[in-house]
Amino acid sequence: MTTDERLATAVARTTGALAGVIDDLDLTNDELMAVLAFLAEVGHADEFVLLCDVLGLSRQVDDQTHAAEGVGTASNVLGPFYRPGAPWIDNPGTIVDPSDNGELVVLAGRVMDATSGSALSDAVVDMWQANADGAYSNEDASLAPWNLRGRQRTDPGGLYRITTVRPKHYTVKDDGPVGRLLAAIGRHPWRPAHIHLLVIADGYRTLVTQVYPAGGPYLDDDSISGVKDDLVVPVIDGGITFDVRLNRGA
Ligand code: BEZ
Ligand code: FE
Repeated sequence: MTTDERLATAVARTTGALAGVIDDLDLTNDELMAVLAFLAEVGHADEFVLLCDVLGLSRQVDDQTHAAEGVGTASNVLGPFYRPGAPWIDNPGTIVDPSDNGELVVLAGRVMDATSGSALSDAVVDMWQANADGAYSNEDASLAPWNLRGRQRTDPGGLYRITTVRPKHYTVKDDGPVGRLLAAIGRHPWRPAHIHLLVIADGYRTLVTQVYPAGGPYLDDDSISGVKDDLVVPVIDGGITFDVRLNRGA
């Protein structure tokens, strides 16, 4: 937990970093005011997390947080589209609403102890993703509310098996100040197609990660720098195999 003192130091250092910018760019007062106005707009639009995502800062914190965690599956940011309380599904089961016409794929694998490789039964695999048009169910009121979201418990062999659809690449929110910034610095807002996973097991550190089907666009140029090699997985005969290795801990 961050203490008040640590927070005060971090905030002072963050704003203090502006001194280097003023110096390097020989900023005028008008320009400083414009920077502050932009940041105020980012706050007003609730886009500070998005700003950190596209500037690679969220990835930096993710890397630092998990650097010492050993041999477990690589983590990834949670992102803004997670919805707690997704429906429980059978194992094997599906998260595809009948109204969804996407190309079916099956994501399956084993949840295990990262060190021993022993299977973890009764672990919770919470999964969510965009559809074949690149839209999440909580972005578009015309979509079934829980489409492509669900929670499944692993079987006694640690296996999970979830039928879903092939997700499509999509843009991060680009109609606000962060989108304007990206355009101004000549960057695109696209993310490669991915499937989000949150995996919980008693006695293990919760894993938040994303699986990236191999071969799609933007894998080499993710707007939030989220892609990690270990998380890029081939789709073979409509199936994606993704084992999850959890590190021990609270
Ligand atoms: C996502 O993967 O859902 C996401 C992550 C960060 C920013 C925008 C979207
Ligand atoms: Fe996403």
